[in-house]
Amino acid sequence: MAQDVVQLTRRGFGETTRRDAWWVPQVGAFVVLSSFLAYATWAAFQNAHYEYEQYLSPFYSPLLVGDSPHAWFRQAPWFIPAISPALLILPFPAGFRFTCYYYRGTYYKAFWADPPGCAVGEPRTTYLGERWFPLVLQNVHRYFLYVALLFLIILGLDAYRGYWFTDAGGAKHFGIGIGSLVLTLNVVLLSGYTLGCHSLRHLAGGYLDRLSGRPVRRTAYECVSCLNRGHMNWAWASLFWVAFTDIYVRLCSMGIWHDWRIL
Ligand code: FES
Repeated sequence: MAQDVVQLTRRGFGETTRRDAWWVPQVGAFVVLSSFLAYATWAAFQNAHYEYEQYLSPFYSPLLVGDSPHAWFRQAPWFIPAISPALLILPFPAGFRFTCYYYRGTYYKAFWADPPGCAVGEPRTTYLGERWFPLVLQNVHRYFLYVALLFLIILGLDAYRGYWFTDAGGAKHFGIGIGSLVLTLNVVLLSGYTLGCHSLRHLAGGYLDRLSGRPVRRTAYECVSCLNRGHMNWAWASLFWVAFTDIYVRLCSMGIWHDWRIL
């Protein structure tokens, strides 16, 4: 059967025959990611209002040094510099997100238009992929994953502590405040994002040629795959909520918001 031959022509930068608003997601990603970066940087340098009673902001957790009951050390050991505690720990979750396969595809488009969008002319004629410096460094993602899993445990403990209120006599009682739920949802969303990571899926069984006869590996692979299918949604929801959790704790600490007790 005869087939038509379609000649493809290379388009100039930004040229396309697409008629939809293909640039809208890129502009949205640029605005949201820039806003998050600006807020997180500002919050990290504040070194104040990061805890309220038993609640600790995820931007400052683990709290390595300080007078707070959340702190791991009262006096900073020699190897911990005297800077805002957030600056000591944020490079790890930031590195995890920055090297995430999904975010890479997003900010390559949104921040340096390479490519600007599907079927839209690119700014260059060669494609090197991520095999060369500096983008080859993105392969460090799998190592950031190990740290991110550790952070999930720490944030889970923070959420658990969020349910224990101290009364006037110093005794602890179980209770539920809006803050308890905010911290818990933060861990749920971060878990959905982290446990659906492409690198974790590979770790769970992806490097095997076949999974039949490996029931544990197969189940783990399928669980990660299930979360991985919604990785984009988990990525945005967890990004938004981790910032909101910091805002919630900050505004309660500043006395602007009141933490309502449900139980
Ligand atoms: Fe997105 Fe690993 S690929 S967190």
